[in-house]
Amino acid sequence: MDKNLTELITATRVPIADLVAKLRTLPASAFNGVEQIRSLLETMPVDEASLAPYLTWDRQHYTRNLIDKTDLYELMAVCWEVGQNSSVHNHRDQNCWMAAAVGKLLVENFHLEFQDIEAGTCRLLASNTVELTAAHPCAVDPQEPVHRVVNPRELNQRAVTLHVYSRPFDTCVVYSPEQGTCGDIRLHYNTAFGKAVVGRH
Ligand code: SIN
Repeated sequence: MDKNLTELITATRVPIADLVAKLRTLPASAFNGVEQIRSLLETMPVDEASLAPYLTWDRQHYTRNLIDKTDLYELMAVCWEVGQNSSVHNHRDQNCWMAAAVGKLLVENFHLEFQDIEAGTCRLLASNTVELTAAHPCAVDPQEPVHRVVNPRELNQRAVTLHVYSRPFDTCVVYSPEQGTCGDIRLHYNTAFGKAVVGRH
């Protein structure tokens, strides 16, 4: 995307409530392919100040903060301290879109050659890496869904990403590409609708 367009987009950030209102108008079909939501996130980059109720920080682990949830989708703000990253994971065959409201992150994609969940074994090959910014939201490729998100230490800045998952899911498979192991984990929210989730830790 050229610099002028990037600046225009940066200048026209919207409150998170506007993005939620828009998502709530969309029919189920909008969440079936990947392009419609990706382009919505590109045209509606979210203003950081409006995310204040959803921003929580933990030096041990990135935080997952639920903003909105329907039968069709969940919308979360994920807060990344400097140098934090997710595990390599999948999304349970659900579609996923990510945009950076703050910062610049990397999405490292992996090709899954083989997995045996029962045995807890897998083989993964690193494929491509894409930059995640406000102007450049990403859709997870449904054919190659295994990835990790990295907030690079060398950038020395906190980051906040917005994630739309459709449909909502609360478990996923995490992988260790180095050890060739994998297994199911349960996913938790640190906060939901701006309030701490009791019993989270
Ligand atoms: C998460 O949902 O916990 C991880 C962020 C992601 O890569 O989707």
